Amino acid sequence: MRKLIIAIDGPVGSGKSTVARRVADLLGYTHLDSGAMYRAVAWKALCDGIPLDSPAELEALASRVRIDLVPSGGKLHVILDGEDITDWIRTPEVSHAASLVAVVPGVRRPMVAEQRRAGAQGGVVMEGRDIGSVVFPHADLKIYLDASPEVRAGRRWRELQEKGEASDPLMVLAEVRERDRRDREREMSPLVRVADAVVVDNTAMDAEETARVIVLLAQEKVNAAAH
Ligand code: DC
Repeated sequence: MRKLIIAIDGPVGSGKSTVARRVADLLGYTHLDSGAMYRAVAWKALCDGIPLDSPAELEALASRVRIDLVPSGGKLHVILDGEDITDWIRTPEVSHAASLVAVVPGVRRPMVAEQRRAGAQGGVVMEGRDIGSVVFPHADLKIYLDASPEVRAGRRWRELQEKGEASDPLMVLAEVRERDRRDREREMSPLVRVADAVVVDNTAMDAEETARVIVLLAQEKVNAAAH
């Protein structure tokens, strides 16, 4: 059976990571979280005191680090220059820094090259903001995952609660809206709904239902290719 390239793009809180991981599990594919790569660069910039408003220094950093995404124990480990940084890149500080780092063209170039290399053989579910538009414009299946801002903020708020990080739901909603704006309005590779993407709105669906819808769409593609 031919193995597909599945691109899942969508805004923060749309459930991309959980859904992409589950789709990959169900199909026996590899899950690649492109956002984790921008988070890794941001984490390293914060550690090394690299100013987030210096595109030249960020570009140099992005070209010299090596980032590996390694699935292990049901989770995707992010390895930067041999160090496992998985548990350190989901803080609000890194989220904010990642959204600044991701607007720098010189950072995106090496990340996109690595993502293309990692997915070239197919059998991947890659999630991000620009997978269907830039990284794999010829992906076999493109999904634009979405949900209402209120539902996405609620998910984010619960995640923070679970981590024991106190937060105000209204502040979280404001942050979600702000990150949406930055992702959609940036000049390079903004988050867009490409014309050939299937829109899956999971405002009223959980991750399992969402993943199964996408698996059905994938199976349709595989069947169509076989006939
Ligand atoms: O999906 P995430 O929240 O982990 O992504 C972290 C940041 O990286 C976020 O600000 C969006 C950005 N990003 C991007 O610009 N392009 C991608 N393909 C993936 C993420």
